[in-house]
Amino acid sequence: MKFAILTDTHFVEPGRLLYGLDPAARLAAAIRVINRDHRDIAFTIVTGDLAHWGQPAAYAAFRRVVRDLVAPVILMMGNHDRRAALRAVFPETDDDGRGFVQSVRTFDAATIVTLDTVDEENRTHAGILCPNRLEFLDRALAEAATDRPLLLFQHHPPFDIGLPSMDRIRLQNPEALWAVFEKRRRPDHMFFGHVHRPVAGTWRGIPFHIQRATSHQVAFDLVSPEIPGSLEPPDYSLVDVTREGIVIHQRPFLHDGPVWWLHDKAAQDAPDTAALGG
Ligand SMILES: [Fe+2]
Repeated sequence: MKFAILTDTHFVEPGRLLYGLDPAARLAAAIRVINRDHRDIAFTIVTGDLAHWGQPAAYAAFRRVVRDLVAPVILMMGNHDRRAALRAVFPETDDDGRGFVQSVRTFDAATIVTLDTVDEENRTHAGILCPNRLEFLDRALAEAATDRPLLLFQHHPPFDIGLPSMDRIRLQNPEALWAVFEKRRRPDHMFFGHVHRPVAGTWRGIPFHIQRATSHQVAFDLVSPEIPGSLEPPDYSLVDVTREGIVIHQRPFLHDGPVWWLHDKAAQDAPDTAALGG
């Protein structure tokens, strides 16, 4: 099974830019590439921060763009999102029965679980998993088929990644999350949004994946307590889940430079971009 990941689209109301960028144009560009090159994906998941200020007009704009995706789309909440505004525009948004945007989807190749880590009550950008949401996860892990991998998606990483500005606003109660894993089952892979940077590794043995936003990025800064912005180009990810394991590609969808054969001796001084149509 293949699927695509987009994250942190940060839509604003139509006609406005954010940090000089047009979030709608960027998502549209990503969707064009995904539709063109990945007709075989089971779904595209957007791992939160769909709208920068959570405005209804921004979700309406997001809907007008995201509907062009050929594959089904799974939407998640991020700290910039507002549940009521999201549901007003996307009434079909996942609901765990207690109002949180959480879900379990069972595919032949994997079980996909999404969590809602947003602390809307306290109006903080940090994440939380309250007892109700942890109970949902407990049930999801207990009931998931054991003969296939379980992939867990949540907006906020539950551990420090080394950027102080982002570590301040990570998930605030990682031990509560871990306790559910210990009781039931560890996910086979975890996927996060929030960071606006590519980061990979393991958390207590569980591999994880974080990728660039489709909108603005966070600079590689291991010192500053404030969040540093950056205009590094955006990525989407393509995930392939097979019997052998999980392969994840990150692709900068706005990059349009030349491509050449590395074995072409004539290209070794400089690729002939005209001949290659670049
Ligand atoms: Fe974000």
